[in-house]
Amino acid sequence: MKFYSNCTAGHYTIMCKSFSATLYNLSCGQYEYIVVEKRGENKNVGFIQLNRPKALNALCDGLMTEMGKALDAFEADGDVGAIVITGSERAFAAGADIKEMQNRTFQENYSGNFLAHWNRVSTVRKPVIAAVNGFALGGGCELAMMCDIIYAGEKAQFGQPEILLGTIPGAGGTQRLTRAVGKSLAMELVLTGDRIGAQEAKQSGLVSKVFPADQLVSEAIKCGEKIASNSKLISAMAKEAVNAAFELTLAEGNRLEKRLFHATFATDDRKEGMTAFVEKRKASFQDK
Ligand code: CAA
Repeated sequence: MKFYSNCTAGHYTIMCKSFSATLYNLSCGQYEYIVVEKRGENKNVGFIQLNRPKALNALCDGLMTEMGKALDAFEADGDVGAIVITGSERAFAAGADIKEMQNRTFQENYSGNFLAHWNRVSTVRKPVIAAVNGFALGGGCELAMMCDIIYAGEKAQFGQPEILLGTIPGAGGTQRLTRAVGKSLAMELVLTGDRIGAQEAKQSGLVSKVFPADQLVSEAIKCGEKIASNSKLISAMAKEAVNAAFELTLAEGNRLEKRLFHATFATDDRKEGMTAFVEKRKASFQDK
């Protein structure tokens, strides 16, 4: 069992005062397959590390259920302004757990809507950064693509090798990869099971930045801190607007963006941001 390792006594007291008991148990409680912490100078970046090293962080059902709980807790935690998901230096995640899937039937999958709960990662309103070292294969690549930003370590490898197992991606791989890198490369990866490295992933638009492996997580936390220093309310609106680009026509997307832009003028944070600019000082956002 892994415990919330950054929980100092003072931190524990503050958190217990400010959260309900249920929330406290979820964000700081015991997890078997992941490590959950709050990181950054102001402890405002939620940090989730996949922790099944022997199985290269294969995404078993228990792991993804815990991931959902940790994300729920960070979503409800007013201090957290961004979330980082990472794995180990060898593997972000080597995909869905093949041993767990091996004997599943169509009937079970269909009636239980197998893997539906993975979608929680893509519905989080707070910005989520994937910090990918090592293998991000199959469901691992799909998990990274459910996040908002992907940072990669130099030795990261991305791929959708499901075809080699006689199946196809089942957690958004054919859709998100195609939108990220275009049809030709997506088809090649999905149809051959080949992998691409970090630099090719960056060139193709899958990844926004590449770092030496040992700097990856701290750079992702820095990015999370930068995001968390802005208004959480406005960040959620910005994220909603960008995500709409994947769902709507250009006209519909522009209309939604305009409405959200107008809506920012109903917030204290928009007033504070512009006033601070005019007064030549740093804005102090209250997430209102
Ligand atoms: N599920 C379960 N166990 C896995 C796993 C997975 N996806 N990937 C690796 N493991 C396990 C291996 O079985 C092995 O365990 P044992 O020692 O108990 O046998 C351990 O992790 C280490 O793996 P390897 O010995 O294979 O390590 P390697 O360095 O030789 O190879 C690898 C690494 C290339 C990632 C290789 O493990 C591999 O090809 N893994 C499978 C990748 C894959 O096909 N992913 C897609 C899964 S299907 C999917 O994700 C569906 C979806 O869309 C949601």
